[in-house]
Amino acid sequence: MSLKGAPHSSSSSWDLKTSILLVFFLSSSSPCFSWSLPPSIVNSTEQHRHHTFISDFRVLTRRILSECPDPNPFLQINVTPDSNLADEENVTVTVSGVFVPQKDDWVAMISPVKNSNDVSRCPANELLYAETGDLSKLPLLCHYPVKAQYMSNDPDYINCTKKECKKYKHGKCVKSTCSGSLRFHVINIRTDIEFVFFAGGFETPCVLTRSNPLNFANPNQPLYGHLSSIDSTGTSMRLTWVSGDKAPQQVQHGDGKTQISQVTTFSQDDMKSRSAVPSPAKDFGWHDPGFIHSAVMTGLRPSSTFSYRYGSDSVGWSDQFQFKTPPAGGSDELNFLVYGDMGKAPLDASVEHYIQPGSLAVIGALTDEVNSGKFDSIFHIGDLSYSTGCLVEWDFFLQLISPIASQVSYMTAVGNHERDYPDSGSVYITTDSGGECGVPYETYFPMPTQAKDKPWYSIEQASVHFTIISTEHDWSENSEQYEWMRNDMASIDRSKTPWLIFMGHRPMYTSTDGIFSVDKKFVEAVEPLLLENKVDLSLFGHVHNYERSCAIYDGKCKAMPTTDENGGATYDNSNYSAPVQAVIGMAGFTLDNFTNDGNSWSLRRISKFGYVRGHATREEISFEFVNAATMEVEDRFRILKKQSAEYVDVSQIMTGFRGIAADEVERDRATDRSEL
Ligand SMILES: [Fe+2]
Repeated sequence: MSLKGAPHSSSSSWDLKTSILLVFFLSSSSPCFSWSLPPSIVNSTEQHRHHTFISDFRVLTRRILSECPDPNPFLQINVTPDSNLADEENVTVTVSGVFVPQKDDWVAMISPVKNSNDVSRCPANELLYAETGDLSKLPLLCHYPVKAQYMSNDPDYINCTKKECKKYKHGKCVKSTCSGSLRFHVINIRTDIEFVFFAGGFETPCVLTRSNPLNFANPNQPLYGHLSSIDSTGTSMRLTWVSGDKAPQQVQHGDGKTQISQVTTFSQDDMKSRSAVPSPAKDFGWHDPGFIHSAVMTGLRPSSTFSYRYGSDSVGWSDQFQFKTPPAGGSDELNFLVYGDMGKAPLDASVEHYIQPGSLAVIGALTDEVNSGKFDSIFHIGDLSYSTGCLVEWDFFLQLISPIASQVSYMTAVGNHERDYPDSGSVYITTDSGGECGVPYETYFPMPTQAKDKPWYSIEQASVHFTIISTEHDWSENSEQYEWMRNDMASIDRSKTPWLIFMGHRPMYTSTDGIFSVDKKFVEAVEPLLLENKVDLSLFGHVHNYERSCAIYDGKCKAMPTTDENGGATYDNSNYSAPVQAVIGMAGFTLDNFTNDGNSWSLRRISKFGYVRGHATREEISFEFVNAATMEVEDRFRILKKQSAEYVDVSQIMTGFRGIAADEVERDRATDRSEL
């Protein structure tokens, strides 16, 4: 249904509000709105309400927008700086010339600038808005603003502390105005931005005035470089970064080595949408991602530090960074960090489309950890940015993780908020990805997978084999992914990597009840593979808390750990019984409570923001849950395994003794075999 011809402007804000309400009364009473709403959207709304957090800002999308009637002639919006923005800026937006400051006056940062006020091509369709997971019967903006703040964030504005006289009579001031300022944290998103001053709050906004467009000094600047492994050798490392320029660039590393980038991108056409219901990604949430560059640095040594920079002479260069390669598969010792469901939050007082309130504390603590130089790699197991169709939020997420992902390998698994969408091949037909369908995820985070949209892979670091699956793609018996995970785990050389950690997004066990918490079919299909292949530990996210189980299979404890005087748990897998399972989705998203305290398999439950440290040697693998606010360890467990004869690899013992590289051991092995 089109709203063309609906009254867009009127003589007062009351009339505007009345018109909007009338339009929506009419539209909501139309049968085409109610009966055509697909069940998947209704279901996704339930999921969003119960399982996710969407800020008040959600009501802005697709709202009819008009100029406020009779704006006063003194009104001004000034931005400092007002052009050539740096890659990261704290911009000051000052509104002045206001006669009577109102609590519901607000400022939005909008990008791209083009057509942001063109409502004629912006049908206010409830079905389009439903893709965000909310069915409020509200009018909607054409473009979703990047971020917004109420002017009341500056108390000087509401109190009119800074008065300015605009008119004098007989030497006395007869007309004065008020002003106020807001700080906006801005990062280089390549496209020009503008600041728009609104009256009427988020529910009945009208435009008072707007700034001139602000440009970034270098929209082509290479930014947000992040590392990932391409294999288990520790001798190569992929760097992926973003730039506004599509010409290949370079990464320069080590002693003057250079690799040229492969360049890719994705377009609005790549975003999925069902014809009846355009997705946010294809519609009001679209933002041009620029170009994504990726290059593999080769000829490195495992567990070693190298320096690099990326870019080109024509577009500019990044800063110089240092990174550490992970230990080669089969070597002795690994320190890693692991978590799920982090997301992002603004570095100012703004509201945004989707905010994960714990993400800043967690990223701060993780930065300290990585800066200590102790950690070799990071695993983020699904629900990364929560962009969910509002694509500029990927840039903010990439910027947020840069301090850690530029230093060590940042390996990922796909989550529902990267991948799920109806009719797109995901197991779950919710609209959780907002139409992204894994396309931005796979472009920004290329993992060592076999093909596009098959985001499962394994990697070995030191004594650990990580099998990483997609819970969002078919895992049913005999599916391609099922066959892959069965073969992958069956072919592990446990003398080389005695530990097997299985990771994905949705859990098999949780004490947070809910219809979307655990899929019994997933457990029935995949859990037997974990037991058959003697998985030591399974790590999942999706539920937003921390929970550790006994050694569990089919809902029953097969073995219990011993507990030391400090509460640390020790599982002995010398005589293997079942995997230990842990939920670790507590890295940023609003926390979930434990609704069921009666599970005997559940040994530790913590609903606090944090992450997990892992440390593996050949005989022991240990984990610590760290509270990000205090950096204190609030749960500690380890798994021991006496090296049985079947797992002992003499060459590994020799590796430790002789201090030679793993590839030399491999050559020795080959020689040994040929001599037999
Ligand atoms: Fe999730």
